[in-house]
Amino acid sequence: MVKTNFAKKLPAASKFLAIAVALRQTDSGVELLTDDETFDSFKSLDLALLGCTGRFGEITLIPFGETSSHYGATLALVGVGSDSDSETDWRQVGGSLGRALNRFTEVAVYTSNSKIKTVLDIAEGFALADYSYTVYKSARAPKKSLETLTIVSDCDVPDSEQKRISILVQCVHDTRDLVNQPPNDLYPESFVDFVEHGVGGLEITMQIWDEVALEAEGFGGISAVGKGSTRPPRLVKLSYAPQGATKHIALVGKGITFDSGGLSLKSGAAMVGMKYDMAGAASVYQAIVGIARLGLNVRATSWLCLAENLPSGSATRPNDVIKIRNGKTVEVLNTDAEGRLVLADGLSAACEEFPDLIVDVATLTGAATVALGNRYAGLMGDAQLVTDIEKAANRAGELVWHMPLAQELSALLESQVADLANTKIGNRVGGMLLGGLFLKEFIGPTELNSKSRIAWAHLDIAGPAENEDAAYGYTPKGGTGAIVRTLVELAEQVSKA
Ligand code: BES
Ligand code: ZN
Ligand code: ZN
Repeated sequence: MVKTNFAKKLPAASKFLAIAVALRQTDSGVELLTDDETFDSFKSLDLALLGCTGRFGEITLIPFGETSSHYGATLALVGVGSDSDSETDWRQVGGSLGRALNRFTEVAVYTSNSKIKTVLDIAEGFALADYSYTVYKSARAPKKSLETLTIVSDCDVPDSEQKRISILVQCVHDTRDLVNQPPNDLYPESFVDFVEHGVGGLEITMQIWDEVALEAEGFGGISAVGKGSTRPPRLVKLSYAPQGATKHIALVGKGITFDSGGLSLKSGAAMVGMKYDMAGAASVYQAIVGIARLGLNVRATSWLCLAENLPSGSATRPNDVIKIRNGKTVEVLNTDAEGRLVLADGLSAACEEFPDLIVDVATLTGAATVALGNRYAGLMGDAQLVTDIEKAANRAGELVWHMPLAQELSALLESQVADLANTKIGNRVGGMLLGGLFLKEFIGPTELNSKSRIAWAHLDIAGPAENEDAAYGYTPKGGTGAIVRTLVELAEQVSKA
C-alpha cells in the first residue's frame, strides 16, 4: 500500500514527482484551486486551449517550467467539476489521482484552506485506487513505481486517523482480492482457509460447519444449494466480543463461490461473472476484520454462508422442499434463487443469539441492477436501521438506496406444499423487493417468546460489488469491495451510541 505523509510544504522537485492541484469549473472558465506562488506560472496559461475542462476526474499533466521552484516535476491538474468544496467527493478525486499517477514514484496533492475531512478523504480515495489484481498474470507485472503520497495542507492529522485509513483500505483491497479470485481456486473449503489465515492474530474466534455438521444441525438451505457440487458447502461464524461491549451486531453474507444457477441453469453469458456471487460473504468477513483491527467497542458476529451452486445428479431440483434452520419449509421453484436459501439459514442462526441488529449483504438479484444500475446497493428493512445504514454509507462515501418491502408482493412467495416458495416462476415485477421479503421471513424475535422482531436490514449489492465497466474514481474494474467501509462505519456508530 502507498505510504501516506501529511505535510505542510511541498516535497522537493524531481522528475519522479507529480504535484496535483484541483481545477474547478466556474461560469468564467476553469479556476486553479490554489493561491500558492509555486503555481503562478500556470495561472497565465490558457487551460482551455490545453483541453482542460475541469470535468470531474479529468487529469491533465503539464511539466513545471525552468523558472519554477519545482522545475523537473510534473503538475497534475485534476478536475473537480463545479460543486463547492463541501459538496465535492474528495475520495473520488483522490481515487482519480491514484489511478492516473501511479507511474510516478511520489505524488504530492496540494490542497489550499482544506478541512481535515477533505485531506483524509483524498488520502483514503488515493489509497483505495492503488490496487491491481495480478495473481494470475504470468508475465511479470510491470514494476509499480508509486511509493509515497504526500498531502500538503495546514491540517494536523492525528496518527489514529492515518491508521484508520490504512486498516479500511486494507480491508477493501482484501475483499477485492477474494472477489477477483477465479472459482476453480475459490470454493467453500478454500474460502475457509483464506478466512482462517486472515483472522489469525486478531481477537476473532472462528467456528466452522462442514457439510456433515450442516445437515445434522438443520441447515437445510446451505446444504441444498451446495449438494450439486463435489466441493461441499461451509458455514463460518466469526465472533469479535471485546470486554465491556454492550451492543451486538450480526452480519450475514451470501457466499456463493460460483453461481451457475444449478439445474435452473443460467445461460452461458449470464454465468460469466458469477464468481463474484460470494461478495457478500467477503464483505462481512472483511468488515469484522476491520472492526477488530480498529478495536471498536461493539460485539460483532459475521456469518459466511458458503456454497457452490452447480447442476449434477445430486443437485437440488425445482419442486424440492427443504427445511431451513429455523424450521420453516421452502419449496425450491428456481434453483437459481439460491442466495436467499443460504441466507435463510445464516439469518436463522444469527437470530439464535438475539443480537441487537442484523444486516445481510448479498449479490441477490439481477433485478437490483435493473432498478438501480451498477453503483447503488439496494437497501431494505426496518426504518431505524435503514436510516442508520444510510448515515453510515454517507459517511463512508458509498451509495445505497432505500427500497420498499412491498407487502402486496408477498403473495408471490406462496407455495402449495411448503411454508414458502423461493420465487414465483414467470414473475417479472419487483425482483429485488421479493428477495428482501423472502429474507424477512427468517428474522426471529428479540428474545424468546417476544412479539417484536430483531432489527434487520438487507443490502442487495448485485450492482456495486463488481465493476464491469471502465475504472473510475477509486473503483477498479472487477471486484470493488463495496459496502465494507459502510459496515465498519455502522459498527462504529453503534459502538458510540
Ligand atoms: N447471483 C444471482 C443474482 C445476480 C444476477 C447478480 C445477475 C448479478 C447479476 C442470483 O442468485 C440469481 O440468479 N437471482 C435470480 C433470482 C430469480 C431466479 C428469482 C435472478 O436475479 O435472476
Ligand atoms: Zn442464482
Ligand atoms: Zn446467486
